[in-house]
Amino acid sequence: MLIKPVKKALFPVAGLGTRFLPATKAIPKEMLPIVDKPLIQYAVEEAREAGIEQFIFITGRGKAVMEDHFDHAVELEQVLRDRDKTEDLQTVLDCSPPAGQLAYARQQNPLGLGHAVWCGRNFIGDEPFAVLSADDLILGKPGCLKQMLDIYNQVGGNVVAVEEVPRKHTGRYGILDIETDDGKIAKAKGLVEKPDPAVAPSTLSIIGRYILQPDIFNILGEHKKGVGGEIQLTDAMAAMIGTTDFHGTRFEGRRFDCGGRLGFIEANIAFALSRADLREGVLKIIKDYA
Ligand code: G1P
Repeated sequence: MLIKPVKKALFPVAGLGTRFLPATKAIPKEMLPIVDKPLIQYAVEEAREAGIEQFIFITGRGKAVMEDHFDHAVELEQVLRDRDKTEDLQTVLDCSPPAGQLAYARQQNPLGLGHAVWCGRNFIGDEPFAVLSADDLILGKPGCLKQMLDIYNQVGGNVVAVEEVPRKHTGRYGILDIETDDGKIAKAKGLVEKPDPAVAPSTLSIIGRYILQPDIFNILGEHKKGVGGEIQLTDAMAAMIGTTDFHGTRFEGRRFDCGGRLGFIEANIAFALSRADLREGVLKIIKDYA
């Protein structure tokens, strides 16, 4: 089997972020910071660590500030240079992938994750690609996408990151119908988007990291609506099973659902505690409030 390398990644960032209003009234939810870095930057850094060279953002109205974030900030950089703030300058410079590696396409209508991915088809062309959801923040070393690529390089096909969830939560996720499972990698014979706990085929859930074969665009191009009236990525991946292998891989690390308030707060605490410069101070604050 020929396994083509993965050099491009899509970031679906068109969502309205209604769960974070009013914070997201004028700024994209992907720009909300975990400690001192916006969510979207964690996702981009994870992709860069995994060897991704092309970063394609599927954006919407009001998301243009992300383009500025990943661009040079010439005046700011000059001020930091003049003031000999070398460390801050480096932090700012490190935000931007090399010139020409970023592209932005708009998802003009909010028709679902599958539609957002389809909007990136002309940037991807005929090669496998990754999809990263900035909402799913993963504290792991190496990063989750790098771990997934190590597995992808052995099994090929479509690969997603998975984790077990409580049965009562299956209605929030894409769920695997498992054919075989060695405890690390599960091969799926089917997938169901957001099943009711009573009928969910397992509790192994897809989290927002995907490695996909480009054939998926043919299926997404049919614009078939699934659960919630949306064009679901899960349905398109399910339709490929039989012609394209589908594996879910568990990963080392901790995932935070930053699409909701509690997960976002937990991520802030966990990331702050993981930093040598902040750990002691944050522990003291937590103790004071406990
Ligand atoms: C999306 C996918 C779902 C997946 C989830 C992971 O759902 O449709 O299959 O399990 O992301 O975060 P959303 O969270 O956009 O409703």
